[in-house]
Parts: sequence; C-alpha cells; structure tokens
Amino acid sequence: MFKLALVQALVGSALAGTVLWDGRFNEFTSSTDLNNWSWSNQVGPYQYYIHGTGAVTQYVNLSPSYKNPADTVSNQGVKISIDNTAYWNGQNMRRTELIPQTSAAINSGHVYYHFSVKRTGTNAPRSDLEHQVNFFESHFTELKYGLLSGASGTSDPTLKWCVSGSTKWSVTFDADVWHNVAYDIDFSANTVAFYHSTGSDPLVLTAGPFSASTSSNGADWHLGVLRLPMNSDLQSTDVEDWYFSGVYVESGSLNTQIGSGGTSTTTTASRTTTTSTTTRTTTPATTLTTVRTSTTTSPTTTARTTTTTSPTTSSRTTTTTTTTTRSTTTTTTTTTTTTASTGTQTKWGQCGGIGWTGPTACVEGSTCQVLNPYYYQCL
Ligand SMILES: *[C@@H]1O[C@H](CO)[C@@H](O)[C@H](O)[C@H]1NC(C)=O
Repeated sequence: MFKLALVQALVGSALAGTVLWDGRFNEFTSSTDLNNWSWSNQVGPYQYYIHGTGAVTQYVNLSPSYKNPADTVSNQGVKISIDNTAYWNGQNMRRTELIPQTSAAINSGHVYYHFSVKRTGTNAPRSDLEHQVNFFESHFTELKYGLLSGASGTSDPTLKWCVSGSTKWSVTFDADVWHNVAYDIDFSANTVAFYHSTGSDPLVLTAGPFSASTSSNGADWHLGVLRLPMNSDLQSTDVEDWYFSGVYVESGSLNTQIGSGGTSTTTTASRTTTTSTTTRTTTPATTLTTVRTSTTTSPTTTARTTTTTSPTTSSRTTTTTTTTTRSTTTTTTTTTTTTASTGTQTKWGQCGGIGWTGPTACVEGSTCQVLNPYYYQCL
C-alpha cells in the first residue's frame, strides 16, 4: 500500500508539467505585501486593484490555517472577504479579486489553472445571490455560487462550473470541504475542461472538454469573488469569507496531486521551472471588458436613477438606471457611456480609461495620469 502510494506520487510528480506562474503566497509575509504592487510599479505575483476602499487586511488575509492542509507545497492560503465597503470603481457589485502579474504565457497553448477553494460556517457566502468565482473577464470558464441571475427560486446552495454562462457541473457547497480544481484550457483548440477533487484526493476529469471562446490577455483571470447585487440590499452588513490555496498555472501535463503527494522534494523540484520567453504586447489597460451588464431578480418596488455628468466642456454622460417592477420582478442594471469628442480636459477631469471616448488631452499645467484601467485623470 505504502509502496503503491509512493510510486503514484513519484509518477505524478514526474509527469507534472511546468509551473508558468506561481500564486501560492509562499513569499508573502502578510497580505499587506500586495500593496507593493501598483500600476506604476508592477511587482510581485499579483496585481491588486479590484477591491473596496478599506485597507488590504479588510479584504485579503493570509494564514497557514487558510490553506488546504493536504497542500504541502503552499505555506499558507488566502482568505478573501467582501463586505459593504467592497465596491470598486463606483460599481454596485461587491468585489475582491487578485490578478496574476506575469509575462509568462498563461494565455496560450494548453494550460491548467490550479486552486483549492472552501468556505466555512462563519461568514458563509449568501446562497441567494450570484457569485462569480475565479473567473476570466469573458467567462469562458469559471466557478459560480448561489442563485444565478435570472434563475427561479430564492436560493441555490451549489457551487457550479460554468462555461460561458452554461452550468456544466455542480455540487452542494458544504462548509469546511476543500474543493480542488484545475481549469483545463486549450487556447489553441478552443476547449475547456474541469478537473476536481476534494480534500487530499488527486484531481480527476469531471466535466468536458467543451468548445469555448478561450481568450485572455494574460491579466484577466480573477482570483477571488464578485457578487452580483440585490438592488435593495447594497448596504447589507453581511460579510463573506472565501478561502483559496494552491494557486498556480501549469503547462505541459497536468499534476493531479494536491500538494507534494507525500514526497515534497521530488514534487517541489519538478515545479520549479518558471521562465517563459513569450511576451505579450497587450496591456490590461486596453483589453479589459468595457461595459458590464447584469440582470438580477428582486421582488422590490424601488426605482433609482443616477445621472453623473463629468466636468468637461464636451458632453460626456454616464447614466445608471435601475428599474424594478413587481409585475416582472426583474431588475436591469445597465451602464452606458455615450458621446464625447475632442477638446481639452480640465484639471481633475477624466482623460482616459476603458470605455472613455472623451478628451484625452489635458489643459496646460496638468497631465493625464492612469489611476486604474477605467479612469485616467488630469492631474
Ligand atoms: C514587498 O516589499 C517588501 C519591502 O521591500 C519586501 O520585503 C517583500 O518581500 C515584498 N513582498 C513580496 C511578496 O514581494
């Protein structure tokens, strides 16, 4: 028995692929290390910009007790939290997400995105709202949890693997169960598949492969959670905690073992290759999704209209309209950016960002500076 396990571990290790990018937090002293990263100083394994207004420790924390204990390669795991301050960039979705910071080719060829995820009984995610978990911007492979937008019923306690909005697999998301996942993505063949196990079990092919519009700029996979809003509930004081560990992207053959599989030196050695000569010319600032449209269901009768006009001489209007009627119980949230033109932006005005079609030149005495992919400002 022992011999067989050892042989399996060695074989698994020998067949494991090349780690293209390592997001296992082993080099982190604490989550405040995420603050090392900025748009002008892109260091460390993660980009950290999709979060609320609080300190990093309000949304991201690290601890050995937050990892899958079977994962002996990771020193610690991450607890990702969303609360009623976790609104990013004026949006009404609660979001705390980390993005790989790497020039490695994690967006081409045949790759595997590894992670483990669990929840506990404390600060459990709400089953009445849709959550997008560890997703790509274009949603060709992702996990979801809770009542999906537009679905009937009042709650849904399942964790689902979805391909472009279509659920391919689901399981009840019980507390204190580690779910190990590898997203199998073949960017060349345009297929995705799903490997899964629980606890310390090796990964097995659980769903797929399916055809999908696989595409990524290499900086649009989001480790973390986005919760769609319930219109009446934006200020709900509930907090959700999500736990992740063993995050890395691999190419070559799939390592099905969780952690070292019993022989840490062998496995560790087989995982140390990191370099890739592939470089990309795209940047996050130009390729992230511009407009997000979501539809949720809510039995309320509130209606809210917000109109914001930016301080510019040209006409640029952002209108967010939320309408809910009891007869249809449908809420539609649409963000539209219209117009714009030429001319010079005043100091403090917006001068760029995703979806921006207004002036990009700043009045004399100020320059256009990138605050985030969605907002450049004349400063
Ligand atoms: C963040 O910066 C500090 C100070 O330079 C450094 O000691 C630490 O290793 C950095 N963290 C990471 C994860 O690179």
